[in-house]
Amino acid sequence: MLTAYDFSMARMLDEAGIDILLVGDSASNVMAGHETTLPITLDQMIYHAQSVVRAAKRAMVVVDLPFGSYQSNSEIALSSAIRIMKESGAHAVKLEGGLEVEKSIKKILMAGIPVMGHLGLTPQSIYKFGTYSVRAKEEEEALKLEEDAHLLQSLGCFSLVLEKIPATLAQKVSESLEIPTIGIGAGVHTDGQVLVTHDMLGITKDFKPRFLRRYLELFDEIGQATRQYISDVKAKEFPNDQEQY
Ligand code: KIV
Repeated sequence: MLTAYDFSMARMLDEAGIDILLVGDSASNVMAGHETTLPITLDQMIYHAQSVVRAAKRAMVVVDLPFGSYQSNSEIALSSAIRIMKESGAHAVKLEGGLEVEKSIKKILMAGIPVMGHLGLTPQSIYKFGTYSVRAKEEEEALKLEEDAHLLQSLGCFSLVLEKIPATLAQKVSESLEIPTIGIGAGVHTDGQVLVTHDMLGITKDFKPRFLRRYLELFDEIGQATRQYISDVKAKEFPNDQEQY
């Protein structure tokens, strides 16, 4: 799984064979420049999801329910999920949390909308935890995570993201569940992996957590191409005879 927020990127990832395109609320960070995922709205998520769905020929498209669109009560959660499905054409929604959001998950699932869970580091709760550091290192939090993972499976979630937790815990949870887990910063033993595409391609400049592998350094490469373009235009080397009518 990789994140996508716009048509062009989604098309490249889809054609390359990615199984799941996640329209993550990380769009709030990498597309809009916010410090956290909290400000992005349901309307904005639907706009991103529509663009991604237009590009997806084979990948499943999963869309994050943004902060505030599912926590207050299950009716609101259901209407947010329905808006995403109806207005974007996506295939499933993802939301953060376990027991606290049980009623919302049940309600959405009862309407026939597939739900992906998300446990461990849950960025929508950043102001509760205070840091983006590794979660569930202590036994109590690890036990709660295991319980939540089994609860999500029993409710009917089809998959589960495990974010930034010890690899041994992610392995234990993954082996004890029947539904597939998808890890980010959770080691190699989850069933799948997810990264934020802008991080993995090196478009984001200074975000370099230990779990991230950068497959390209696009910030530098795009900078270099831009400097070359500026210099070509100033030197009257662009456009040349073949590049005009
Ligand atoms: O919003 C997002 O990009 C995510 C992934 C990091 C799993 O939730």
